[in-house]
Amino acid sequence: MKSLMIQGAKILTTGSAIPSSSFSNNEISKVVDTSDAWIVTRTGIKERRLLKGIDKSITDLAVLASKQALGRISMDPSQIDLIILATSSPNDLFGSASKIQYEIGAINAVAFDLTAACSGFVLSLVTAAQFLQTGAYKNILVVGADVLSKWVDWSDRSTCILFGDAAGAAILQSCSSIDNSILSFQLNTDGNYSKHLSIAYEHNITPHSKLNLYQGSFKHISMNGKEVYKFAVFQVPLSILKCLNSLNMSVDEVDWLVLHQANERILTAIAEKLSISSNKIIANLHKYGNTSAASIPLALDEAIQENKISHNDIIVLAGFGAGLTWGTVIVRW
Ligand code: ACO
Repeated sequence: MKSLMIQGAKILTTGSAIPSSSFSNNEISKVVDTSDAWIVTRTGIKERRLLKGIDKSITDLAVLASKQALGRISMDPSQIDLIILATSSPNDLFGSASKIQYEIGAINAVAFDLTAACSGFVLSLVTAAQFLQTGAYKNILVVGADVLSKWVDWSDRSTCILFGDAAGAAILQSCSSIDNSILSFQLNTDGNYSKHLSIAYEHNITPHSKLNLYQGSFKHISMNGKEVYKFAVFQVPLSILKCLNSLNMSVDEVDWLVLHQANERILTAIAEKLSISSNKIIANLHKYGNTSAASIPLALDEAIQENKISHNDIIVLAGFGAGLTWGTVIVRW
């Protein structure tokens, strides 16, 4: 990692929001041919929260998570300079970050969306750190939010069982370089594997006009679960090791592993490959499923609220998903 660090960056606080409606595996088995036993054994997921009805969207969850984070440190929203919304399920293709900016009253903030599927929060955190460490901005709100329930094919049992809706937020602030706590990052993409996980745009087969213009729409999530599984278990430990090496840090120094909450077996396999004790894995996917860009901030927020994480703890945050894109950020709490 090369960086022009003039200032440090630290996470001041976090927040999160989940829909009120919970759906157990048994309820999902009324929709597709599956069972609680299959889902728990293969994924570790027991239930997920889904956004019901037509009047609620990703913005509502993102706003709730953001307000909670701001409230925890009594920060006036006008102090926020930048909002980055990591999402792959905005309710506007031009972006949803500006709606969050308006609804929370962050009148001085510029806001944009960042699309990197389940790695979105990690990439957004790194992006925010660049703005802070170069001295460009003082306070940044990073939100990871997804409502993939709106994009799954509810007749495809291999994907619809996996996902849940949620939002997680973090407020970062610039600080002196001695206090810098976003210690290192390592990011990767291999577009050759993008076919294994996508929500593809499809043209209608008949042209819209005599101008031969084709229009279409986005379809459902399609995923080659086996390939994504193998990729995650192979690549994520390498990324974490590279990141630790860049700091001359050993795996023994890691206090917490906050991985993208995709599958309990993936979390365990990654920890085993790194010889990191399973006690150090932060996991909440049994309650929420895979919440895509929200999964890491949601897990982090929950761990903080449960007082698991102490001052100076070393936390490894690692995301992986569509792109395929994956990466690690190492944080000193
Ligand atoms: N219920 C019952 N049976 C099922 C279900 C289900 N929900 N889904 C699949 N099966 C069946 C299959 O049809 C197959 O049957 P067959 O052997 O008769 O052909 C059998 O179960 C095994 O299916 P596999 O796909 O091989 O199951 P696997 O053990 O690989 O688990 C899973 C599937 C859970 C999807 C796993 O591959 C996985 O977690 N992959 C990684 C997904 C991931 O990490 N995504 C992250 C990024 S998400 C993002 O970026 C948006």
